[in-house]
Amino acid sequence: MTGIQELLLSRIREIEDHPEPGVRFKDITPLLADPEAFAALTDALADIAVRTGATKIVGLEARGFILGAPAAVRAGIGFIPVRKAGKLPGATLRQAYDLEYGSAEIEVHAEDLSAGDRVLVVDDVLATGGTAEASIQLVRRAGAEVAGLAVLMELAFLQGRARLEPALAGAPLTALLVV
Ligand code: PRP
Ligand code: MG
Repeated sequence: MTGIQELLLSRIREIEDHPEPGVRFKDITPLLADPEAFAALTDALADIAVRTGATKIVGLEARGFILGAPAAVRAGIGFIPVRKAGKLPGATLRQAYDLEYGSAEIEVHAEDLSAGDRVLVVDDVLATGGTAEASIQLVRRAGAEVAGLAVLMELAFLQGRARLEPALAGAPLTALLVV
């Protein structure tokens, strides 16, 4: 493990039985409160954006906003929010995806992405991959290219990486930590 990985991991707190019994929640708020760790994370995500030739970062509500927005500023590229359905005021593209119980919908402003854009999708956690998969589908439906997916943490036991393979179609998935 590199020094940066050790720093990031040391600032993630595990909370037992949240949001429901049997789930061990990964809380990133200690990392966000530590300027050295948050800056290291921002730099690492911005590096991925530059390396993949991204022209925009798409961040996934809500925690993907916190990580993706400063990385976009650092990389010198635009930030596009993918929001939970019903929040964006303009014309949107909407994508449904399945949750453990029920389903959810996310949206992006249609005018924010177009052919010629290369998009790095950023989120905090890759779990089952449902959120990331729907976001990648939105990016493609908008006519943009997927430069990759970058997450702080991949929960390997949930096998989101395998689920995302078809959607990513060869674009890289970079997890700064695999837990
Ligand atoms: C969490 C997490 C990821 C997503 C991962 O978001 O931040 O976005 O779940 O799960 P998946 O890979 O199984 O789709 P959530 O919507 O729970 O909360 P948030 O609004 O705080 O980001
Ligand atoms: Mg989230």
